[in-house]
Amino acid sequence: MPLDISLRSAQPLDLSGDLLVVGVLQTAGKAPALPPSLKPLDAALGGALAKQVAKEEFTGKRDQSLSLTTHGRLGADRLVLLGMGERRGVHAAEVRTFAARAARVAQQDRAKALALAVPAGLEGELRAVAEGLELGAYRFTKYLTGDRKPKAELASAVVGVAGKLRPTAKALVATGQRVAAAVNLARDLSNEPGNVMYPETLAAAAVAMVKANAGLKVEVFDFKEIRRRGMHLIDAVGRGSTHEPRFAHVSWTPKGAKRTLVFVGKGITFDSGGLSIKPAAGMGEMKHDMSGAANVVGLMAAVAALKPKVAVHALIASAENMPDGNAYRPGDVWGSLDGKTVEIVNTDAEGRLVMADALAYSRGLKPDLLIDNATLTGACVVALGNGCSGWYANDEAGAREFAAAVKESGEPMWRMPLLDDLREQIKSDVADVKQAGDRHGGSITAALFLNEFVAPGTKWVHCDIAGPASSDRPLLWSQAKGATGHAVLTFLALVERAAR
Ligand code: BES
Ligand code: MN
Ligand code: ZN
Repeated sequence: MPLDISLRSAQPLDLSGDLLVVGVLQTAGKAPALPPSLKPLDAALGGALAKQVAKEEFTGKRDQSLSLTTHGRLGADRLVLLGMGERRGVHAAEVRTFAARAARVAQQDRAKALALAVPAGLEGELRAVAEGLELGAYRFTKYLTGDRKPKAELASAVVGVAGKLRPTAKALVATGQRVAAAVNLARDLSNEPGNVMYPETLAAAAVAMVKANAGLKVEVFDFKEIRRRGMHLIDAVGRGSTHEPRFAHVSWTPKGAKRTLVFVGKGITFDSGGLSIKPAAGMGEMKHDMSGAANVVGLMAAVAALKPKVAVHALIASAENMPDGNAYRPGDVWGSLDGKTVEIVNTDAEGRLVMADALAYSRGLKPDLLIDNATLTGACVVALGNGCSGWYANDEAGAREFAAAVKESGEPMWRMPLLDDLREQIKSDVADVKQAGDRHGGSITAALFLNEFVAPGTKWVHCDIAGPASSDRPLLWSQAKGATGHAVLTFLALVERAAR
C-alpha cells in the first residue's frame, strides 16, 4: 500500500503526527548553535532542545541524528533531528536519503503517522522526498504470521515545507511514489524465495506488471520457443531444473521516439552452482540471483509512469541453475544465439551464459545504448564490497552518459576497466570462447566474456551489481537483502536524461 502523503506549507512546530522528523542543514563551520528554524521548537520544549543539541554537539552534519521525547509539548510524542550536511552538497539523492532515514526511524518507532519537516530551499525536491519515504518504509513481511507480523506500520506522512508550495508539488509527490513503488516491486521480486519465484513465475510477474501499467507490451518465450530460436546457452543453464527457463521481452515504444535503450537482466531464480555446486553456507542468498531481472521489471514500471519519449526495452533471461542428470557439465561445448561456441569450465558461471543469449537477442532492437545488469561475480563483491556495483563501458560517450546517471541517482556504482590483456584467460582450445577465466580479475573476465556477444559498434554498459549480501545499505534498501532495487534509480535517470 502506498503511503498517504500530504503536503503543508508549515513550520515544524505546526506539524503533528506520532513522530516529528526535522531535517537540519549544517551551517558552515560554526560551533553548535541552534539554527533559527528550530528556535520555536526549542521554546515549546522549554529549552530542552537547545540543551540536547549542545550536549550531543549536533551540527546538522550528514548522518548525524538527535532524538528527544516531547512529553506532549509538541504535536508529536517524539522529535528527531536528522543532519543533512551543508546545503551545497544536498541534491535530490541526499534529500531522498533523508526522507528514507525518516521513514525508517518511523518504522522502528512504530509510528503510524509521520510528520516530516523539509528545510527551506528544498521545496523543489518533493519527488525525492516521496521516493525516500516509500523506499525507507519498505519491509518484506509477507511471510510473517501471528505475532511475527509487524504491529504497527507507517501509513501516512505529512510533509511540511517552509516556503510556499509550488503548483507542481502534488504531481512531484505522485511521481516519486510511483518511482519508489517500481523500485519496491524489484525488491519484492528479489526477496521472494526460490520455491515461489522460478522462471515461470518471474515471467508471470513481468506480465502482471505490464497489465498493471498502460502502454507497455510484453512477450514471453517458453522453453520450446527458447530452443526453437537457438538460445542454446539459456537451454544449457536451465536444463537441470524441473522449472523450465523463460525469456521475457517488455517494451515501451512511444511514437516519435528518437533513441532506443535496451536493458538486460540476469534472472537466475536460484543459483545452486549446478554440478559445480556451491558450498552450503550462504547458498540461500542465491535466491536473489535474479535481482538484475527484478531491476528491469521495476524499471519498466517506472518508465510506464514517466512516459519518456524514448524507446525502452527490458530483456529477462531466466533459468534455475540446478544439478541433475540432465544438467550441463564442465567440459561441455554449447552453441549460442550469436552462433559462437562456448567451452563450459564451471557450471557456477551460469549468469554470463544466459546473459550472452539475451545480449545477442538485443541486436534485433538496434539499441543506441545497451545496458545489462547481473549479480554476475563474487569477484566484484570482493573488489568493491557488497554495497557497491561495478560497471564497465566499451565506449566513452556511453560511459559519460552512464556516469552522469550514476551521479544523479546517487547509487554506489564504480567504473571498472575492460582490461584487454585479460582476454587471454577466456581463449579456448576446443571452442570459440571459454566461459570463464581464473580467479584473478574475475569480474573483468566475466565482462570480457559478455563483450564477445555484443555486436561490434554497439555502445554497451555492463553492471556487475552488488551481490546478495548487500544488506548493509539499510537506508534505501531496507531489508531487501541483495541488489534489489540497486541500479533501478540509475537506469531511470539514464532513461530520463535520454528523453530530455
Ligand atoms: N551469482 C553468482 C555470483 C555472486 C556470488 C554474486 C555471490 C554475489 C554474491 C555467479 O553465478 C557465480 O557463481 N559466479 C562465480 C563465477 C566463477 C565460477 C567463475 C563466482 O563469482 O564465484
Ligand atoms: Mn553461479
Ligand atoms: Zn549466479
